[in-house]
Amino acid sequence: MRLAFGRGSGVGEGVLRAIATAVGTPAYVYDAASIREQYRRLDAALDPVPHRICYSVKANGNLAVLSLLRGLGAGADIVSVGELVRARRAGFAAADLVFSGVGKTREEILAAVEAGVGLISVESEEELSLLTELAQADGLVANVGIRVNPDVAVKTHRYTRTGVKGTKFGVPASEAEVLAVRAAGTPGLVLRGLAMHLGSQITDPAPYAAALVKLMEIVASLRSRGVTSLELLDIGGGFGIGYGDGEVPLDLARFAVAVLPHVATSGLTLVVEPGRFLVGGAGVLLTRVLYRKRSGRRHIAVVDAGMTDLIRPSHYDSYHDIRLVDGAAARPLVHYDVVGPICESGDFFALNRELPILERGDLIEIRGAGAYGFVMTSTYNARPRPPEVLVDGDRWAVVRSRESVEDLMHGETSAPLWRREQA
Ligand code: LLP
Repeated sequence: MRLAFGRGSGVGEGVLRAIATAVGTPAYVYDAASIREQYRRLDAALDPVPHRICYSVKANGNLAVLSLLRGLGAGADIVSVGELVRARRAGFAAADLVFSGVGKTREEILAAVEAGVGLISVESEEELSLLTELAQADGLVANVGIRVNPDVAVKTHRYTRTGVKGTKFGVPASEAEVLAVRAAGTPGLVLRGLAMHLGSQITDPAPYAAALVKLMEIVASLRSRGVTSLELLDIGGGFGIGYGDGEVPLDLARFAVAVLPHVATSGLTLVVEPGRFLVGGAGVLLTRVLYRKRSGRRHIAVVDAGMTDLIRPSHYDSYHDIRLVDGAAARPLVHYDVVGPICESGDFFALNRELPILERGDLIEIRGAGAYGFVMTSTYNARPRPPEVLVDGDRWAVVRSRESVEDLMHGETSAPLWRREQA
């Protein structure tokens, strides 16, 4: 049975129960239909201009999720050679990849140039020099972008603001033009575009428009200086979704009105790099109640998932809707601290949250967990990572199996093979 759950993944209760029984808890469950729907909505909103949706692999890099998005026509946004390999494994052509990141290593840059990544956005003058050296040494051509820090503030968590002066991201607008001109005139480099990324979970389109004005000024100035190679205008990701705490998601129609006119007459292809928008609402973390207890006046529900499985509440104080998978209707409500088993007081999913009275063994879904969930897991407390399951209509499949304790000790030894430096 399929139920429309509003902010839920869209996966019905019966399926969630069956999955929990089959693979155990905690477990991530992603809904393919929801990912498709978000992709189509965004694609339709951007339809008036030539555009490319480059899914941000960092949000959820599962190969099955990547392959689903590739099948819909997406490119991908990567931040490391690990993501380059993942994206290639999922079938993305290198030309359909955009690569930004403040600390790309020599090996990562080389791998991207050799693969023929569509846009390698440099974030410093020193990185541009290294890229030039590597491309020229190998006689290759690198597709270069300059990531501009437009100095536009966004209202979001301070850990996820990336487009303001003083942060480590991009190069200041004042320097970007100089670097772009240099790149355009360097053999072995093709200056294909400008890029930016303002931050994450942004629900107001205005900062995108403000930043775009600055980028378009640079484009105009570059063109007046004879630069003709620009093709792409990459405005990054960050499109906000609803997590259930009353925050209104980014309105695509308003976004289109604010942003598209700036690009429409430029002749450039608009590139967007959404991660959360495509997959965030499509995922839930399934977990079961282990124990209930009281501490002072508080009701504590200890569940079998922890901050090691989903760190967002602990790290950003972020809100995730929590729902009892079955039997909620008839139960009275109680305020709970929903916590995990980790030995940290920051190990919680919700504090003082009104929920149906919980019983041992109850199956719970923590919603909005499709983005920055599994990818930010850790194995702290020697906890194997949970499995990932993809649901597609009435079918489901394990797309990453649960890790074992043996997996966690891979590469370790209790009998060191000592080496000694010769004097
Ligand atoms: N492009 C670049 C260059 C990025 O740095 C990011 C995210 C994205 C695209 C995708 O952003 P999205 O559309 O997903 O907002 N761990 C945090 C979010 C960190 C985002 C980092 N960069 C969280 O759980 O909220």
